[in-house]
Amino acid sequence: MINTLLGKVFGTKNEREIKRLLPRVAAITALEPEMQKLSDEQLRAKTDEFRQKIADRLSRFGAGNGTQALVSSAEAENEPDPERIKRAEKEQYDALQEVLNEILEEAFAVVREAGRRVLNMRHFDVQLIGGMVLHRGTISEMKTGEGKTLVATLPVYLNALGGRGVHVVTVNDYLAKRDSEWMGQLYRFLGLSVGVIVHDLDDQERRDAYAADVTYGTNNEFGFDYLRDNMKFDAKDCVQRPFNFAIVDEVDSILIDEARTPLIISGASEESTDKYARVNRIISKLDKGEETPGAPGEPSTYTGDYVVDEKHRPHCRSRELGAQTPRRNRHQGVRTLPSRRRVRGQRWRGDHR
Ligand SMILES: Nc1ncnc2c1ncn2[C@@H]1O[C@H](COP(=O)(O)OP(=O)(O)OP(=O)(O)O)[C@@H](O)[C@H]1O
Ligand SMILES: [Mg+2]
Repeated sequence: MINTLLGKVFGTKNEREIKRLLPRVAAITALEPEMQKLSDEQLRAKTDEFRQKIADRLSRFGAGNGTQALVSSAEAENEPDPERIKRAEKEQYDALQEVLNEILEEAFAVVREAGRRVLNMRHFDVQLIGGMVLHRGTISEMKTGEGKTLVATLPVYLNALGGRGVHVVTVNDYLAKRDSEWMGQLYRFLGLSVGVIVHDLDDQERRDAYAADVTYGTNNEFGFDYLRDNMKFDAKDCVQRPFNFAIVDEVDSILIDEARTPLIISGASEESTDKYARVNRIISKLDKGEETPGAPGEPSTYTGDYVVDEKHRPHCRSRELGAQTPRRNRHQGVRTLPSRRRVRGQRWRGDHR
């Protein structure tokens, strides 16, 4: 009750946040006549202008402007200090955010104009607000049909200008394809490349799609590509590049509902499984023994080939090794089934939809 009253007088936190963004909306709208005067080529040239501005601002961090550049410069100095790399990364990230924040209004005005010319949709003011909220990494809640697909184009364009790739995560292949084609017209018009990750792409096709400025795909595909990349033996076989910025469509569904199904990756074992059968035969020949605790300070004595500690985890010892203290088995029980070892390039469970 009190909360409702206070909310009525001062506005909710949400309303205040939105109010704070209104001057920026006005600034973007004020740039509209200027943008409308530009030819298509001049509008596209804005992309290069923004890219140059970002590159100039980040030039002090060395060529490449990526983690790799930081790592190699640190290693060149014989000082691969992870703390230093982390600090430098943070500095670089802050510098990038600063310049993106400076160009935000002009960049949004460029996208709005491109939307009008290419898609015949001029971003509404609420869509500009939604775009700013997403750019800050927060959640923008918009109702069905309010045009969230178009909202994404604003922060996507802005964050893709740094050349480090932007992911747009959707719930299914159909939406990934539809949105990449639909909004792709706008990005391409402005000189950005677009890729889409769907089922049945090979590694090279995936690598190409991830190398694009904007990559559409489903949470499942992004997730499994991440897992598979982590199982690659060589970094050059990986398909994804370092992460930069992602927008999640239908975030409630992806981060809450879908997150309940873990991504599991598994495949057949590379090793021969007949070892398990052989070990199984040996196990049945072992004699179960007993433990006799020793006097205080003295070790226990054992009979048989192994003893079982019912209270704790199964213990075992080998008569041949003559171990005095049974080695604790790392597993809860003795495994006699072939283990599912991770193998690269295998199909996986749980990704069919
Ligand atoms: N600025 C705009 N001007 C004109 N039409 C627009 C604008 N923004 C969105 N639309 C139209 O609104 C419709 C709904 O857009 P969209 O599918 O992006 O909505 P949504 O918010 O993602 O909805 P859902 O919650 O169903 O996914 C589309 O047909 C789109 O063309
Ligand atoms: Mg939608």
